[in-house]
Amino acid sequence: MNNDIKEVLYSQEDIKAVAEKLGQEITKDYEGKNPIVICVLKGAILFMADIAREIKTYCELDFMDVSSYGDATESSGEVKIIKDLDTSVKDRHVLIIEDIIDTGRTLERLVDLLEHRNAASVKICTLLDKPERRVKGVSPDYVGFEVPNEFVVGYGLDYMGKYRNLPYVGILKPAVYENND
Ligand code: XMP
Ligand code: MG
Repeated sequence: MNNDIKEVLYSQEDIKAVAEKLGQEITKDYEGKNPIVICVLKGAILFMADIAREIKTYCELDFMDVSSYGDATESSGEVKIIKDLDTSVKDRHVLIIEDIIDTGRTLERLVDLLEHRNAASVKICTLLDKPERRVKGVSPDYVGFEVPNEFVVGYGLDYMGKYRNLPYVGILKPAVYENND
């Protein structure tokens, strides 16, 4: 285990199992709908790869990079589009794949944007949900795991660009970010 990690919450095996389960639900719900599955960069890349493999019906994959965090640990409510989609979502069913929903500010803005672009439907699939922290009325349609109100990293999630490549989700030792503030 990485030295900066206090505790492993979900192993690669746990995540694989949950991706299989969610993939089956998504396959059933989107059969014949040819959805656009959107990976929110960079945090969702590992989970996106797992989910995409478990969707057993036609779909398209696209990528969007939005920034709400910078290097801090608290969402600002401002969402900047760093990389937009390549595909038009007009009249298309859209499934957003996220790493974590925290306050919900990022996803609220993203859902608004895609609805404004006249997507036929917009749903959310997130690996992690931190419902305790929610300030916006966003609710995910597919959730991997609910996590406690602690800063977690790994499996796509970072702190200052680090830890994304860890093959598990773990709680970061508070000393790591306290030293950087
Ligand atoms: P909001 O608050 O807008 O934030 O729902 C969503 C984005 O914030 C990041 N985030 C985290 N990243 N560990 C992380 O590595 C965390 O515990 C955490 N909580 C929020 C994440 O990028 C997410 O997309
Ligand atoms: Mg993110």
